[in-house]
Amino acid sequence: MKSEPEEVLKSLIDQNIKSICNIQENSMRGTNEHLFSRGVIKRFWKAIDYGIEGGKRLRGILVFAAAEAVSKKEYFSLTTEEKKCLLDSATAIECVHAFSLVHDDLPVMDNDKLRRGKNTLHIEYDEATALLVGDALQTLGTEVLCSSGTFPERRFKLISVLSRATGASGMASGQMIDICAINKKLEKTDLEIMHKYKTGALLEAAVSMGYLAMNITHEDSRARSMRSFMSRLGVAFQVVDDILDASGTVKLTGKETGRDKILNKPNFVDLLGIEPAKEYAGECLDSALGALEKFGEEADFLRYVANRLVKRSF
Ligand code: IPE
Ligand code: IPE
Ligand code: MG
Ligand code: MG
Ligand code: MG
Repeated sequence: MKSEPEEVLKSLIDQNIKSICNIQENSMRGTNEHLFSRGVIKRFWKAIDYGIEGGKRLRGILVFAAAEAVSKKEYFSLTTEEKKCLLDSATAIECVHAFSLVHDDLPVMDNDKLRRGKNTLHIEYDEATALLVGDALQTLGTEVLCSSGTFPERRFKLISVLSRATGASGMASGQMIDICAINKKLEKTDLEIMHKYKTGALLEAAVSMGYLAMNITHEDSRARSMRSFMSRLGVAFQVVDDILDASGTVKLTGKETGRDKILNKPNFVDLLGIEPAKEYAGECLDSALGALEKFGEEADFLRYVANRLVKRSF
């Protein structure tokens, strides 16, 4: 089965983000004659653009790959309404992910200066702007999903999955564990829990959103397999992030490296060593791929993305 090239899907997500931002910014044009407010709002939307641009868009691509695995159809052969629902899902999760990065980089969290090969948002602008851009990007994710009246039930479920994965039942709790674990030594199981929530939750949401957009329910056996696939892969993704932090290059990752050591954050490289951590990520990948064994070539794109997630160098 031939899928759309990753770059095509990436640029669809980027265009959709631009278009939703333009619509929203234009809806504020009533402020045009008020010079001060106009200036502030213009700068704010520029900062929002800055926060969302770049990145691998892997979560968005996962949404497309999961949809293909259940629908057995490539994106371009779906109906217009289905395409919009799917693209909105991919866009929404990338907005929320970007929000998580902007807040993650703040001085009260990881205090990072480089992200996606450029200054972090609070360095380029300031901390208050970064906080508000994060707020704006998070809610933009929900707004994208509310941008059409078609498939209201699907869209309701999509919003529910994304919200749950973002908040205290997902990423936010993982980030809380991360912050509370500074200067502590965590057992492997605790480290896995931290990774499962801070990173795995949104990745799991990505596959769920892919099948929900195709009207497949959580109870469907394909949905169950895909969630189990992603729960194994989500931890592996963060293990690889830990490895890249310890041994990757700034040029490739677009982030400062060695940060986990400097901040004394528990991570898989410290716990296991580089080579065993790589082996562990490989085992997670194999076990994740095993969860897809009932699928045929319709899941080849998903298998390809799984390999991309774990065998990446940036
Ligand atoms: C970085 O995620 C943050 C983690 C959860 C490890 P990505 O490596 O997917 O970052 P971008 O979106 O490509 O910048
Ligand atoms: C990121 O974990 C988790 C998020 C929810 C953003 P990290 O803090 O290790 O991610 P990077 O290394 O800054 O991208
Ligand atoms: Mg962090
Ligand atoms: Mg960080
Ligand atoms: Mg990291």
